Amino acid sequence: MQSLVTSCGKVRWVHGHDSAALSREAAGMFAEVLRTEEQPVLGFATGASPLQMYAALVEQTAADPALQAAWRRAHGFNLDEYVGLSPSDPRSYHAYMMANLYNHVPIPRHHIHIPDGTGDLEVACRRYDDLLTQLGPPHIQVLGIGRNGHIGFNEPGDSLELRTHVADLTETTRRQNARYFGSPDEVPSRAVTMGIGDILRARRIVLLAFGASKREALERAFSGEVSTRCPASLLQLHPSVTVFTDQDVRPALLRG
Ligand code: F6R
Repeated sequence: MQSLVTSCGKVRWVHGHDSAALSREAAGMFAEVLRTEEQPVLGFATGASPLQMYAALVEQTAADPALQAAWRRAHGFNLDEYVGLSPSDPRSYHAYMMANLYNHVPIPRHHIHIPDGTGDLEVACRRYDDLLTQLGPPHIQVLGIGRNGHIGFNEPGDSLELRTHVADLTETTRRQNARYFGSPDEVPSRAVTMGIGDILRARRIVLLAFGASKREALERAFSGEVSTRCPASLLQLHPSVTVFTDQDVRPALLRG
């Protein structure tokens, strides 16, 4: 794989043409945390972006008994869940995580933490933050980026919330995710999401951005400006972000 690693400020930029190879490299960063931390705490996302990374992590685990042992000590935290979908709903992020990762690695079931989108949401948010405080922060957190620059379900706006909260999804996001539901109208209008503060507390952040549809959001996120209108731009403030992308973008931060 041809990969260009450019250190721009605090952001490490890994560019290549093969998203599968980039995803394997990203999976290697998670495997490294699993191997080195006594009680690894891993932060996960859903959607299309991390799918190849999860497949690679499953493959690397199957081939390595030390990784299998490490998963037994690991905790996993997910960024978000739709409001109103129960864990057994195949469109829920619970179901996604079981199908794409957790059913294939030996993590204890009670070490799997995903926000609860049913029942008393305020209680669910506080409980999630308490757990994050108790067990976290994650040693490593994977993120995708929305076309509107969202991370988790922290949508662009006048302000951003730091802790886990209930977010109203924008029309752009509901359209972006309609492929899993049939039509934008069927996409839940709210989600429980970790806040920006929760995300920025992770020790290392891996951002995966593949395909031309992510180009503009990447340019904005790493333009050198920070704005709540592009939540991913706050990643510029984090001390350890690695971006894996197959897009030939040249954000201002890289040019400087
Ligand atoms: C998913 C999440 C979202 C997605 C983003 C990109 O848990 O928090 O922020 O990462 O919407 O989605 P994909 O990867 O489907 O393009």
